[in-house]
Amino acid sequence: MEQAAGRAGASAAGSSASAAGSAKHFDAATRRKAEDLVSLYPERRSALVPLCHLAQSVDGWLCPDAIREIADLVGISPAEVLGTATFYDLLHTEPVGRHVVSVCTNVACLLRGGEDLLAHAKTSLGVNAGGTDADGQFTLEEVECLAACDRAPCVQVNGRFFGPLAPDDFDSLISDLRDGKLDDVVPSHGVLSRVPRDVGLAAGMSGARTSAGATPGSGSEDRS
Ligand code: FES
Repeated sequence: MEQAAGRAGASAAGSSASAAGSAKHFDAATRRKAEDLVSLYPERRSALVPLCHLAQSVDGWLCPDAIREIADLVGISPAEVLGTATFYDLLHTEPVGRHVVSVCTNVACLLRGGEDLLAHAKTSLGVNAGGTDADGQFTLEEVECLAACDRAPCVQVNGRFFGPLAPDDFDSLISDLRDGKLDDVVPSHGVLSRVPRDVGLAAGMSGARTSAGATPGSGSEDRS
């Protein structure tokens, strides 16, 4: 994973000098949200992590073009954006599947079969930890404590918790995800919230845009 992140980093950082300031990866709506996010903070770079989440919600991962545009927005280098993004497990600097399946093998889960569950997950999905299956549906990760020890052995899918899971439960979960039966519960990777927290964004929106667009704070204009 680290090596892949490094490759993404080299790609992003390597072309930083020529691309910074000129990259336009975001579409108009995303760019507007990004600028609204930036406007919330006294220092532009304080919007860095929220912008990474915004980009990931659009693309499913942080691609080099998004990294360059974020760097442009907050006035830092793409390498600095990448350095921050690679610090956080929830941000992915390489493509991932629609569902990121994170199996915990830390102490509580380990004692309750976490390693066996991970081994089963590898076989069931046909990938090793860090890999994505052939149809791009599932990326498997081995993770440290998910802070849901009462559900050990615990699995997280796109930020949603499931557990305790026996191997059969895991297969049922994967089957339901593959069939779309949990689409109301588990959105595609990168979507942190079903209803974006646009109440805060309203504080940074211009009066003209507020009056022209949907009601800020209602959440009705951009439900995912
Ligand atoms: S040890 Fe697995 S969630 Fe805490």
